[in-house]
Amino acid sequence: MVFLLLPLILLVSTIICDNSVDEKYRINCQPGRDKDPNNCTKLGCILDTSNNTNIPLCYFPAETGYIASNLSNNNSATDKQIILQKDSNSVKNPFGTDFSQLNFTCRRYRPPISIADSTTINSSEKLTIVSTQNKIWSFSVIRNSTGAKIWDTSLGGLLFADQYIQISTIVPTDRIYGFGENIHPSLKHDFSQFRTYAMFARDEAPDSKNPLVNNVGKNLYGVHNFYIGFEGDGKAHGVFFFNSNAQEVTIGGNAITYRTIGGQIEVFFFPGPTPEEVVKQYQQLIGTPILPPYWALGFQLCRYGYQNVSEIRDVVERMKAAGIPQDVQFSDIDYLNQYEDFSYNNDSFADLPQFAKDLHNNYSMHLTLIFDPAIEVDYAPMNRAINADAKFIQWPRADLVPTDTQNRYPLIKNTSIMLGKVWPVRNVAFPDFLDTEPKTNNWWINEFMLFHNQVEFDGAWIDMNEPSNFGTKFRNSTTSTEKDDNAPDLECPKVGNDSKWDLPPYETQASFFYGNDGHLEGKTLCMIGKWGRNKYYLYDSKSLYGWAESFATHKAIRNATGKRGISISRSTFPSSGKYAGHWLGDNTARWEDLRSSVIGAQEFNIFGIPYVGSDICGFGQNTTEELCLRWQQMGAFHSFSRNHNDKNMAPQDPTRWTTVAAAAKKANLFRYRHLPYLYSLHFKASLFGGTVVRPLFFEFPADDFVHQISYQFLWGSSMLIIPVLESNKTTVDGYLPSTATWYSLYDDGYGQKVPNGNSTFTAPWDSLIPVFLRAGSILPRQTPAQTTVLARKNRFEVVIGLNNDAVNGHSIANGELYWDDGDSIPPADLSMHNFYSFIFSFDATSQNATFIITKTKTATNLSLPAVENIEIFGYQWTPDFSTATLNGNSTDITTLSTYNSTSQILNITASGLINLNNGGPTWTFVLANNQPIQTTTHTNGGGGAEKTFTILLGFFILFFVIVLN
Ligand code: NOJ
Repeated sequence: MVFLLLPLILLVSTIICDNSVDEKYRINCQPGRDKDPNNCTKLGCILDTSNNTNIPLCYFPAETGYIASNLSNNNSATDKQIILQKDSNSVKNPFGTDFSQLNFTCRRYRPPISIADSTTINSSEKLTIVSTQNKIWSFSVIRNSTGAKIWDTSLGGLLFADQYIQISTIVPTDRIYGFGENIHPSLKHDFSQFRTYAMFARDEAPDSKNPLVNNVGKNLYGVHNFYIGFEGDGKAHGVFFFNSNAQEVTIGGNAITYRTIGGQIEVFFFPGPTPEEVVKQYQQLIGTPILPPYWALGFQLCRYGYQNVSEIRDVVERMKAAGIPQDVQFSDIDYLNQYEDFSYNNDSFADLPQFAKDLHNNYSMHLTLIFDPAIEVDYAPMNRAINADAKFIQWPRADLVPTDTQNRYPLIKNTSIMLGKVWPVRNVAFPDFLDTEPKTNNWWINEFMLFHNQVEFDGAWIDMNEPSNFGTKFRNSTTSTEKDDNAPDLECPKVGNDSKWDLPPYETQASFFYGNDGHLEGKTLCMIGKWGRNKYYLYDSKSLYGWAESFATHKAIRNATGKRGISISRSTFPSSGKYAGHWLGDNTARWEDLRSSVIGAQEFNIFGIPYVGSDICGFGQNTTEELCLRWQQMGAFHSFSRNHNDKNMAPQDPTRWTTVAAAAKKANLFRYRHLPYLYSLHFKASLFGGTVVRPLFFEFPADDFVHQISYQFLWGSSMLIIPVLESNKTTVDGYLPSTATWYSLYDDGYGQKVPNGNSTFTAPWDSLIPVFLRAGSILPRQTPAQTTVLARKNRFEVVIGLNNDAVNGHSIANGELYWDDGDSIPPADLSMHNFYSFIFSFDATSQNATFIITKTKTATNLSLPAVENIEIFGYQWTPDFSTATLNGNSTDITTLSTYNSTSQILNITASGLINLNNGGPTWTFVLANNQPIQTTTHTNGGGGAEKTFTILLGFFILFFVIVLN
């Protein structure tokens, strides 16, 4: 099947200003700082003040766009070069001069990241691009099977100047999900407001309380210009706008408008037709997500502001004493010597090397340390960098270098390195992770190895990589604003030709959001800076910095530890998920932030970064007991599950309150029990692409109600979670999609069927939050322990939710398990890795139950715990435990197994029940049900009569036994 790659370069066409446009299709002609209505008509645009302020007041006339000069009658544009020409009568581009002639296939700066070369994917569905010309040229992307228009640019608005590019499309429905990284008030976009979301990597804390100011959502740490959309009939498609300049989308009316200030328009369309297939197809392009080590799915604890190692040791001990499972302890920048990477403080953190060893040896735990990209320019790692010819972000020309600052530092005196200021006292330089030679990355990797020789860390937390810089200010050519402090601020050119990068004609909402003093270089380096050995301007490529650092650090952590390791990165870009996970940044300890983190984790799964989570209990401000408790309960269901908070905030590890400790213990034990399922989901996403935490519309796209749901989510297709996200609640309202049957997996009615539709569920503090198992599923699980290292040795268990088919009398369920050593480095082709996979199937009738495990892949030198517990919900018959057989041989399950005919829960337990290390590839466990005497000789009646007879006979036998006694 085909997905389409469209590198477009387009031009403005002839526009007559009396051409009014329906409100649903209006494209803002004054998106910049100039909002003066008097200037609207001067631009050639149309002013309409009679409207609701959400609709653009000043808009482009209809038929703004380009004219194709060589469009033939055969209008399929896929393989064609189309020449587009600017009509001299058309509306001018407000932010530059449109190119006068453009070639549809022309290319210029393209983000230099490795995405798949192929432009075809496998799918049952095909999309076709059709281009047409009325007054202006436009194109549509059409689903062959239905004729649905996924994109339709006939509303016009196509502009293409050097530093202002715009394209608009009509979309088939308002069921549009994605775009990031922003805080969205709901998972589904709201088209009634003409909201604009800025996308440009920035060190910016999310504000979930006020996510939009004047209908603009500010840009956060990463950039993901990707969405999943639905057509009217419920088929899903995906659209990826591949561009790394500062950009934004406006979502409103019936349309989406894209604006970017450089690069090209390159759009990929994915045909789905299910959301999960869309994500898989997207990941065929950008790469499937990294497989985390098993321990990285354990609970993690951090804070900014630990005073010393002994404070950290204390908290680890407290967690253990409270029995709260914990796998990873973090250290923030507190451990560093003067905040310099690859060092540790020899006083307060002198014990760090021993602590790392103790975590491994005495606690079966792991250590993750923070690494910021900014390198202080006057110490040993910088010296080694210079000697290795490693590169740093630099000024493009020597005459731009502020030599007075540069000259302070002997190591970099004669270089063009652009100096910034972050945590270290003196100036810093930013490694060139896009170096076209391997020198910079090799130096970075070597630093990791050298430091690992001192401190045996296991994971890397890469922060501040937008890249963040403190105190950048504009260069004023006449007045020096440089302060005479330890590290002078960075100043960017704002006059002459050199200002085109830092003062472009359209600075995007990423600047305007911060008022008149807001500019692209805010909190970061100058856009004129270059990297890739002086090849790429930051203006074009800055949003790739976190991606590039993730790429380098992925190798570094593996080389240093010799194990799989994991990195989590604050700044991300499409394909970051191949190398790292992500946390949602500096949230605030507020209920709004707890809620938005539920949306954020779902969105990052859509973006191909399923190893994601928020700072549990909240980063900024002091949390409260209740908020922290609810966040611990919810955060136990995010793949990256870490409690973290800011310096100077009160400690918030779960042991601080007995209630929170109890809730965290309960939630983490549940998580640890179900980690084999969570790990299998990650394994499958890494192997085949796809999501782990999944919005409900992924599984139930035809259910209108689920498209409104933002705050419930699924693990894979089988576990549904309804977190409590408001204060003063002991219940939570939720919705169980009605096309499935659900069993409770939590305290209230454990193992029982739960009515579907809207319900109010009990959720007191001392209960798990409501969690449900979808009937027809088998989940692998394992007896939990204090850490995953210990839990991995415990027995396997499975939980089975039966789908009872009244018509054919079968109760069935299916599932699977992926299992490896959890810690070794897999080959680039994960399918060649040393791992097991198993398929589970269960089928019961009134006669018997058959549970089959089939090994579909074998690992070598890896032994597995036995399956010793099978818990079955919705079992309608009384089993006869004495009949149990495994592969035809009698097996004793009588001592510990139970069946409760009221709850219909069957629990089969026996030591060494199914030993997956012996035999195979299929293990068949059969258990007969208690059969009434002669049942088989009385089966010629109807199904209903037979059942009644069986029940009566069973009752009679029981009665007879009692009389005898
Ligand atoms: C910013 C990060 O987002 C935060 O998590 C961290 O604690 C601070 N930097 C200090 O390193």
